Parts: sequence; C-alpha cells; structure tokens
Amino acid sequence: MEINSIEQYHEVYQHSIADPEGFWAERAEQFIWRKPWKKVLKWNFKTPSVKWFVGGRLNITENCLDRHLATRGAQTALIWEPNDPSRKARKFTYKQLHAAVCQFANGLKALGVKKGDRICLYMPMTPELSIAVLACARLGAVHSVVFAGFSAVSLADRIKDAQAKMVITSDYNARGPKNIPVKQVVDDALAMGCDTIEKVIVHQNTGGAVQMKADRDIWWHDAIKGRRKSCKPTIVDTEDMLFILYTSGSTGKPKGVVHTQGGYMVYTDFTFRNVFQYQEGEVFWCTADVGWITGHSYIIYGPLLAGATTLMFEGIPTYPNPGRLWDVVNRHKVNIFYTAPTAIRALMAAGDQWIKGRRMPSLRVLGTVGEPINEEAWNWYNERVGKKRCPIVDTWWQTETGGIMISPLAGITPTKPCFATLPLPGVQLSLVDANGKEIHGNDVEGMLCIKYPWPSIIRTTYGDHERCRQAYFSSFKNLYFTGDGARRDADGYYRIIGRVDDVINVSGHRIGTAEVEDAINKAPGVVESAVVGYPHDIKGQGIYAYVIAAGPVQNEAAFKQLVLETVVREIGPIAKPDKIQIVPGLPKTRSGKIMRRILRKIAEGDVFNLGDTSTLLNPEVVEDIREGAVGG
Ligand code: WTA
Repeated sequence: MEINSIEQYHEVYQHSIADPEGFWAERAEQFIWRKPWKKVLKWNFKTPSVKWFVGGRLNITENCLDRHLATRGAQTALIWEPNDPSRKARKFTYKQLHAAVCQFANGLKALGVKKGDRICLYMPMTPELSIAVLACARLGAVHSVVFAGFSAVSLADRIKDAQAKMVITSDYNARGPKNIPVKQVVDDALAMGCDTIEKVIVHQNTGGAVQMKADRDIWWHDAIKGRRKSCKPTIVDTEDMLFILYTSGSTGKPKGVVHTQGGYMVYTDFTFRNVFQYQEGEVFWCTADVGWITGHSYIIYGPLLAGATTLMFEGIPTYPNPGRLWDVVNRHKVNIFYTAPTAIRALMAAGDQWIKGRRMPSLRVLGTVGEPINEEAWNWYNERVGKKRCPIVDTWWQTETGGIMISPLAGITPTKPCFATLPLPGVQLSLVDANGKEIHGNDVEGMLCIKYPWPSIIRTTYGDHERCRQAYFSSFKNLYFTGDGARRDADGYYRIIGRVDDVINVSGHRIGTAEVEDAINKAPGVVESAVVGYPHDIKGQGIYAYVIAAGPVQNEAAFKQLVLETVVREIGPIAKPDKIQIVPGLPKTRSGKIMRRILRKIAEGDVFNLGDTSTLLNPEVVEDIREGAVGG
C-alpha cells in the first residue's frame, strides 16, 4: 500500500505537485521496462503534445501477466460469472490467463495481425473479450472495443474511422432473458462498406446459429487450434497506441480517444491500488462493461497490473431477480465492489426485500462512477449494501483521463455524500469562470479544468488531432477542459455538478445531443429536432426530444415509434428518447442557433421560468412548446 493515512495523502500530494516527474518515475519503476525512459515528461497543452516516460519501451501484458507468474501464477486472475446463475462460473489463474492470451495472440499473429493494426472488438462480457484485449496488446496491435449494445450503423462508423483490419465478435450475447445476435450486427455493419476488414473471428458463446462467411469468418476455436501457449510480447514504444475508445462529445460523431502504453499502465495501477486501498488477495468486482473506459481500466488493466483477482459479470443486475448482484458478491466473496449510481437507484427502487437477507460479509469497499450520485442513493448504498461498515469512494473521471482523477481513498479520506472529495496525487485541478480566469479559494463553483498532465491523459483523437485540440485544449489557454462543472466547498472538497456542454449522461452513458438529433433527423417525416437532458429518477438524466414533422401527423404514436426505431438503428437502444414532443418549430436566436436553455427548462418542467424570450427569432413557438410539453 502506498498511501495509508490522510496526513500521508497530503504529503504525497504535495510531493507529486512539487516534483511530478520524480513522483511518477518512482511509481513506474516497479514495472518491466525493456528499455528505460530517457525523460519522464515532455508536454505542452497548446498543440497539444504529451509524452510520458519518453524513449521507454515495454509491453503492458508482460506487466499484467508475466510479471506475476513467479509470485502468483496459481492465484485466480479472472473470475467470470455467467448470465445464467445455474451455470458454473469460470476461473483463470494468472498462469492460465497468460496461456490463453498467448495462445490467442498466436492465432491473431497467424492471421497476419501485427504491431499498429487496429482490431475492433464487438463482444459480450465473456472472458474471451478480456483475452482478446490482452492478446491485441501482446502483439502491439491497437484494440478498439465497441460496446456490444451499439447498432450496426454505429459499429460501421467506428470500424471505418479506425480503419480496422479485423473484427473479433461472438455469436450471441446472453443478457438477462434475452439472447442477442451479435454476429448478425457485425455482418450488417460490414455490409455498409467497411473495406479495411479482412477477417472476422467469432467466439462461440451461446452456441446459437450464425452464418459464417467463407474466406472471411473464422471460429475462435479454430483460430487457436494447435497454437502455442507462449508468445513473445512485442516490445513497443511507450507512446505507441494501446487502444482507441470512441466517446461522445458535444459536436459531430463520436471521437476515438487514444491512449498509449506506459503512462496508462502506471496510472491505472496507481489509482486502482490507492483509491480502493486494494489488499493482496482481494476479489475486485467492477460491474461496468468492457465496452466503456471503466471496464478497460478497472476490469482489465488496473486490477491485473496490481495482481488482483478481477470479476467479470455477463448479465444484468435484475436477472433473474434484483438480488443478483448481491448473490454474486456472496458467491465469489467480493471484497471491493464498483458500480454506477444508476444501478444503485434501480436496485433501491426494486425494494429492500432483495437485499435484506443478503449479508455480504466479504465486502470491504464500495465505489461509484459515471455520473453524480444523489444523496438518497449514496445513503442506501452505505446502509443497505455496505451495512455502514464499508467506505464509499465516489470516483470522478472520464474516457479521456484514462483513470480516476478525483476520489476519496477508501477508508482514509473522510467522505461526504455526493462529493468526489479530493484530487488524486499528480492531479492539478483548476476551476475557471467563463473567461478562463481561475477561481481561487473555497466555497466556489466553476468549470472544471486540469492544468498539468497526468500519465494517462488523452494523447489525441484518432485520425484528427485538431479535433482533440479543439475539444479539450482550446476553450481555455493552457488548460485541459473536462466539460464538467464543479463546486469546491468550504473544506476544499469537489462536487461534480455535471456536464456544461451538450453532452447528456443517461444511466452513466455519455450521449451527445448532436448525435441523437442526427439520428432522429433520419426518421421519415422528420424535418428537424432538438434533444436535451432532463432529471430522471433512475437514469440520472433522461432524453427529451423535440421534433418538427414535415406535415400534419395523423398518428402520433406511429410517428414516435418510427423516431424511436430510427434512433435504435442509428445508435442503439441506449440513445432512445424517453420523451418525444412534436413541435411546430424550435426557438432560435437571430443567428439561427437553437436556444437549448429554453428547451431544457421546459423539459425539466420549469415552464414558467424561461427568462427573456423576446430576442428570439420566433418567440411565438415557445408558447406552443410550453403547452405541448410532455410531463410525468
Ligand atoms: C461524468 C466514465 C459525477 C462526468 C468514467 C464525466 C461523473 C463523464 C462521475 C465521463 C462522478 C463520471 N460524479 N459525474 N463520480 N464520474 N462522471 O467518459 O460528467 O463515460 O465528464 O467516463 O461522466 O464519462 P465517461
């Protein structure tokens, strides 16, 4: 353990600020470097360019796997809990996981995968997904995991943007009572002109029927047949790409956030061990999907780098009943449990009978991530799940930050509901006003920025560096802008308020309003649309869509159904609007910009407090919209 008291946290924090290079070099030394770095950090936020451990060479899987073989080869590295609770869990020791990764890497190699190739992973939550991620990294290939809930259109967009050479997928995705045909989505995506794809590897998960295309599709079990279970790691430069992960922003299509090797490794390991105060031998369970950054950093890389036992769950929290998560905790004696507020709220709403008899004595630490947690959910988590004896870490971070940035250290930092509390060592925060002026002192509120690089900061957006500069480094000079607003209270504790840009956070999933609007506009009979978020009891935020129809709508229900189906086809079920209002027009400024402020107010139900609307180009539509607002 590195930090074990609050005094020590403050000391370490001061040291990390006074001497960032010395601080992170010390953290990096424990790893296997095939060539030492020459300089710890080179950076500027102008272009931007950030390089950590410059000149160093390594392979991250050697650090996740090989490094542990001598000391904990027989320890469980990965536990897999299947969707169907009557099926047996699968377990891999470090030795077995190493062998599985090597074998699959050899299979990939035989199919021509080499350093720098982009490989798209579109898979359910199976051990093979983690194995595929690590096998790519073993060869220095770049993984781009696409959440298996995205539609064929979204998958095709991501494959094309990354110019991926291969897709790795599964036959079906078993989620609750459903068996979702995953391979079919890949086939549909590839029919949309993904010319760079040469091969598709298909893992047989549920064994349901699939169409295999000759010359293109290969079964996973055939790809590994006869392959050796050892594979020399490809040694890469520390600033070579490790992965691309697409995420939504306030404009345009999702962008491919790029993370590199050494910095990401050092940071995910450091944050995993310190935030959760991980103790040797503990079982760690993060309920996120590997399709999101939380799964990358805290199901796969962080825990394996630390030599922990990481649990992966295929199913959903409410199947076969809302006691499932607690059953899994008991079944596998989970010590550290990390989930999203939306799951907590959903299980809280399902009623206490599902948690009452489930004691969960193994639990030691609880964590949350992905969205602000409300006080009621925090208290329920603390009292019912943690039985008031488990510290809660409310961890704030982003796809772009690679790892946790603001969080209590479990059991060390005194917590307050709704507060992510204090920055981790090496994280230099700054709250700024609209002009980019830093707001000093406590009991203040502003836009959350970061003024100094940390090792796992976003390096670029794939194929479009200017977009990275624009999105994160151009709002305020010499600052990384998070897109979030935050409050610093009298104790210097941070509370995240939420996005200040056009991104909404639905059940912990980031969704760009522009993306949803683009999708809705493709529905037949739609002229224009505007999408905003509104407070939602379970999801945190819901999606409210204002839609202008081409002519009189005869059948409103059918029209709305078409809008929903179009969004599902273009993006996926996660982006489905919760409310749709057909409107005669949208409030616009004289320069033609949609006045979202007014639309947000109406969606929130605050219809009599719209502020000044007289400067609008078309103030008359506001009355119509107000009258037709969808309540409840
Ligand atoms: C939000 C997820 C409040 C925030 C790791 C951020 C949070 C966005 C918290 C990133 C938290 C994440 N409290 N809000 N503890 N954690 N967020 O990229 O708005 O999927 O900008 O990364 O989620 O979402 P992303």
